[in-house]
Amino acid sequence: MKEKDYHDIFSKFKGLQTDLIPILVRIQDKAGYLSEEAIRYVSEFLKMSQNQIYGVASFYPKFRFTEPGKKSIKVCMGTACHVRGGLFLSEAVGWKLGIGIGQTTEDKRFDFQRAGCLGCCTLAPVVKINEHVHSRMSVTRLKEILEKDD
Ligand code: FES
Repeated sequence: MKEKDYHDIFSKFKGLQTDLIPILVRIQDKAGYLSEEAIRYVSEFLKMSQNQIYGVASFYPKFRFTEPGKKSIKVCMGTACHVRGGLFLSEAVGWKLGIGIGQTTEDKRFDFQRAGCLGCCTLAPVVKINEHVHSRMSVTRLKEILEKDD
């Protein structure tokens, strides 16, 4: 985001600390994540420390602090998926891509998140890649999907 983008967002607010969440939501909607730069701008605007902002924002799973990849992989860790192998799928993603939860690969192809129940437990275990839900996922099939270059 450019400096002007931040000012456009800030112009709709009075600069009160109660504006923090709606401001962060708007920044994330526009940029896809909350960068260090974004936190710095918000800190200056709201006269809050960056630590305070990180402290509040990290409480909400909606906010992310790394740039999203071209493909966002969400491994469901809800109960039904967990008992049907969600943890193995999660470990497979980390092992295959060399990144941890909340991180993005260096080439920006993938980012990796864990998710709470995605609402389709009968299809467990489930992995969501961008907007597509892959049902009854296996480690082998997941690795094949991650190797595909599309
Ligand atoms: S627990 Fe995974 S979809 Fe519900």
